[in-house]
Amino acid sequence: MPALVLLGAQWGDEGKGKATDLLGGSVDYVVRYQGGNNAGHTVVVGDQKYALHLLPSGILSPGCTPVIGNGVVVDPAVLLSELSGLAERGVDTSKLLISGNAHLITPYHTTIDKVTERFLGKRRIGTTGRGIGPTYADKINRVGIRVQDLFDESILRQKVEAALDQKNQILAKLYNRRAIMADQVVEELLGYAERIGDYVCDTTLILNNALDEGKVVLFEGGQGTLLDVDHGTYPFVTSSNPTAGGACTGSGVGPTRINRVIGILKAYTTRVGAGPFPTELFDEDGEKLRRIGGERGVTTGRDRRCGWFDAVIARYATRVNGLTDFFLTKLDVLTGWERIPVCVAYEIDGRRVEELPYNQSDFHHAKPIYEMLPGWSEDISKAKSFEDLPKNAQAYVKALEEMSGAPISAIGVGPGRDETIQINPFL
Ligand code: GDP
Ligand code: IMO
Ligand code: MG
Repeated sequence: MPALVLLGAQWGDEGKGKATDLLGGSVDYVVRYQGGNNAGHTVVVGDQKYALHLLPSGILSPGCTPVIGNGVVVDPAVLLSELSGLAERGVDTSKLLISGNAHLITPYHTTIDKVTERFLGKRRIGTTGRGIGPTYADKINRVGIRVQDLFDESILRQKVEAALDQKNQILAKLYNRRAIMADQVVEELLGYAERIGDYVCDTTLILNNALDEGKVVLFEGGQGTLLDVDHGTYPFVTSSNPTAGGACTGSGVGPTRINRVIGILKAYTTRVGAGPFPTELFDEDGEKLRRIGGERGVTTGRDRRCGWFDAVIARYATRVNGLTDFFLTKLDVLTGWERIPVCVAYEIDGRRVEELPYNQSDFHHAKPIYEMLPGWSEDISKAKSFEDLPKNAQAYVKALEEMSGAPISAIGVGPGRDETIQINPFL
């Protein structure tokens, strides 16, 4: 009954989509358990490139059932457009399952996300503007709209009216925006009901039954550990739990059923949006990482902030997720540097600190302490085994493994499915 979690070990965009897709052919179910269409995964299959936001990356593997779990927030317009985009390219989307308990992102959530960011000005989070935070806020506040509400018009209307009674006050009085008409929202949502209805089911029951039958279930995280609302760099985080525990609450599968937790770890670091980032580079090296790594957001098109590898963060990800393995991605991007700095600890107010400080102000002051590792210049994109890598690349991987606290079981040397070195099998 193997159940695996695959999640981001840094600030997102580590290459989760590629890693999930790689395993997709060998698993029966791929489950998104949190986040929404703030995620942006690029998956390269042969000469085809796919950008996925809401749908689990397993949708590209025939034979694999993609599942949107209860912990996800679903924008129905985005869902339908992503589905039709894939169908036009010949991808079979008919197997998709959606939890009736997942919450809906409505037009007012997206509006509130955008106006709140504008209102915050300099203090903004730099959200993706997809309505993620306001939708989770309504969920926790018990005024959210769930997927299942689409199929009961009177309940839907009551809930939308109740939510808008309050939100329109905020929109009009605080943000000076026009009120949103409940009728319009209800009409739009009802328009989706029929097109989504066939996908909606009790995903918790299906997943637990599948595990009882010995099927393989892969939980695919959106975002990353440092964007987790509890364990990340709050308040510069997303509004859900990408960390391993989120796989349980976001799917209704208990922790005793999960036997492997794989952290996807970029060979350097990137971040999108505001918030602290100790190893961030503002020089030519940062520009070079951005250019060679193609570090531009899949969802918002924003340039990603780039910096060197941070072992303090990797160790933290191992700890809060109980990682069993790492999948190190984008090692090829580091080809060509004579020496590669790696952050091994921080200096905070004159002290050497080995672990991520739990205090936000300390983290904001953290200065990286670097160790210099020798680089390599050989093209590694065709490497098929660890031994194919140049000695210095092997040493870089080994050093990262030692510092990060879990074995590196796979290495990405290019964006394609086959540009991967598998050291220990995941299944
Ligand atoms: P995700 O959000 O974690 O799925 O990651 P993104 O898709 O947002 O960003 C990762 C980017 O790196 C994508 O463009 C991938 O195609 C690409 N990628 C993934 N693994 C590798 C790798 O090992 N080498 C290179 N060069 N690119 C990779
Ligand atoms: P994937 O799945 C990188 C960031 C946003 C912002 C913060 C909050 O591709 O790794 P939100 O819209 O979620 O309320 O924004 O989180 N963010 C991501 N950064 N990759 C992502 O997803 C992200 N999803 C959200 O930039 O800083
Ligand atoms: Mg991404």
